Amino acid sequence: MADIYIALIHHPVYNKGRKIVASCITGVDLHDIARSALTYGIERYFVVNPMPAQLKFAERIIGCWRKSDSFVHNWTRAEAFKLVELAPDLKSVVKKLKNPILVATSARPQGKIKFPDLRRKLKGLKRPVLLLFGTGWGLAEEALDQVDLVLEPLRGKGSYNHLSVRSAVAIVLDRLLAKV
Ligand SMILES: C[S@@+](CC[C@H](N)C(=O)[O-])C[C@H]1O[C@@H](n2cnc3c(N)ncnc32)[C@H](O)[C@@H]1O
Repeated sequence: MADIYIALIHHPVYNKGRKIVASCITGVDLHDIARSALTYGIERYFVVNPMPAQLKFAERIIGCWRKSDSFVHNWTRAEAFKLVELAPDLKSVVKKLKNPILVATSARPQGKIKFPDLRRKLKGLKRPVLLLFGTGWGLAEEALDQVDLVLEPLRGKGSYNHLSVRSAVAIVLDRLLAKV
């Protein structure tokens, strides 16, 4: 089984006007995605943001949850925070993981690989796999151009499918890695 990593990308992403921007890190994304990552056996949760002030903001939150008091106060959350790592760009994450297979997610219908196919594929892979999730209005083309695979979008009964990134991470991880 491949080692699975996730990255929350804050740049390059689109804003509402489809301009490429760097979005802000949110506390809930740090907390909730770390907990999903720990639940589903993710090796590391990378939070990718090029802005030093944003990395500092995230460092403060992460630092607080790594103090020994936090393990007494709320050990489940503190355990999850051990998985979080900050990075200035995707390139440095790719370098660190030594040639991972990059898999992007998107609400837009550009995804080619189906969930059951990727789930099956993961079992036989030796290379690490890095799942990418967007912020703002989603991953920009220049990020999607670098990936090996794009997952099919999550869809429900209706036509609306714009999930929060936290919900999308939990559902994607469950579809790919749930014990059945
Ligand atoms: C566009 S961002 C939105 C961030 C926003 N600020 C929020 O509410 O969390 C949401 C990200 O979650 C993932 N996502 C959302 N809806 C999805 C869907 N239907 N299928 C696959 N991935 C989805 C994608 O990675 C997407 O880039």
